[in-house]
Amino acid sequence: MSTTIPAFAGTHWLFGSAAPFMATPHLLPAQAGLQHGGLAWFRILHKRFLAVTDADFTRQALVTRHERYERSFHYRNGQAILGFGLLSTDGPFWLKRRRQILPGFRTDSLQRLVPVTRDATHAMLKHWEQQRRTGAAVPVLADTQHLTLTIIGQALLSTDVGRDNSERFGTAVRESLHLMRARNTSWFAAPLWLPTRKNRYLHGTRRILDDYVNGHIAERKGCPVQHDILQTMRQARDPETGAGIDDAGLRDETKTLFLAGFETTATALAWALYALAQRPDLAERMHEELQTVLRGGAPDFDSLKRLPLTSAVVNETLRLYPPVYNVARQAVADDEYNGHRIPRGTILLFSVYGMQRDPALWGADANDFRPERFLAADWPKQAFMPFAIGKHVCIGNHFAVTEMTVALAMIVQRYRLALQDSHPVGMVGRITLAPDRDINLQLTPR
Ligand code: HEM
Repeated sequence: MSTTIPAFAGTHWLFGSAAPFMATPHLLPAQAGLQHGGLAWFRILHKRFLAVTDADFTRQALVTRHERYERSFHYRNGQAILGFGLLSTDGPFWLKRRRQILPGFRTDSLQRLVPVTRDATHAMLKHWEQQRRTGAAVPVLADTQHLTLTIIGQALLSTDVGRDNSERFGTAVRESLHLMRARNTSWFAAPLWLPTRKNRYLHGTRRILDDYVNGHIAERKGCPVQHDILQTMRQARDPETGAGIDDAGLRDETKTLFLAGFETTATALAWALYALAQRPDLAERMHEELQTVLRGGAPDFDSLKRLPLTSAVVNETLRLYPPVYNVARQAVADDEYNGHRIPRGTILLFSVYGMQRDPALWGADANDFRPERFLAADWPKQAFMPFAIGKHVCIGNHFAVTEMTVALAMIVQRYRLALQDSHPVGMVGRITLAPDRDINLQLTPR
């Protein structure tokens, strides 16, 4: 016999939870799930959503019974900008692509990423030093974004996005994320063929991205081999047919990787700096670890495995401030969990934010920044999924962690960090979980 899944209380009779969801999309599914034992319905106008914070059911839906769940309309909406890439598709088309693109994220690519990240971080630190010497605090958000955009540009296309005439492209990448979120959250998104002001802007932004990426793909033809992810994608062959990815496919996947890879890592880095600035004791211990292992040198690929505290700081940042705070799916077949029926057609929001702050699993200090928890053997691994789990697990997970670890290590090696003011920085659920204002750091050289 199936039991009823509770409904999240306190919603408006007509709009349901629309207002709180729009204001705090990271909090509402987390609260609904955590208050009701892991699963709870909530409503936005006439549409019902299932909020999930139960880690075991999440594993069932995303791993063991993944064939009953597909990506929801949220991802298909992304096609307006991204075309048909890994993030906006599912099913056999997605699987074939995933297999073709995976080699671009293997160990040799990660090894090449380390010097790329070192160079880009070095340039950022040089800029910080100039600012510091004027006595000014450093606002980190724009700089971490510039850093990760530079890194992804080098890793993907061997190009410097921050230089030359690429400024328009950088702006278009940032704008695209806002446009995609706007389409997912607006009451009414006009069909793309209607020449509304918003649609014209969206098409214009997409054209900037397409022209830039197409230019690079065209330049590549007949050029010496570059060791970057575009090159791996160009060489990829379908094991069954031997076919490669055509130019439109290369364009869409390149755009996807740019968009998926830059703001997620940039906001995570900014949060890590915010958290470290409030724990000088921890930053000192991290510095000691870096001194012992790197002896004043820059991090290299092999040394990253020997920095447990630095890695724990990265993990704790991704736990407390997960850039992708909700993962959405739609049930394409009926399912059942613990006596609850999950009917076909249900839209589910897996609250990564809620799961990773569940006091029943993480303890009474679940909301505190305490990286030491990751140094114990028994932390709740099943409830840590900043990169999701299952077949759609982030293809750039090791890429992001490598990038964050190298950049953080270099920053802590060079500076003591403090916040310019003591007002807490809040969270706002945009396309990623962003700080609600800039994080201004006072830097003291070591
Ligand atoms: C801290 C940084 C990052 C976080 C927290 C993150 C998180 C995620 C999550 C949760 C998903 C699963 C989405 C879903 O299916 O619902 C995902 C997918 C994806 N991510 Fe990331 N990501 C990060 C960095 C990156 C980077 C650096 C890249 C590329 C260079 C990247 C590329 C992708 C792609 C292509 C997908 C789609 C994978 C597929 O469905 O096959 N991400 N990411």
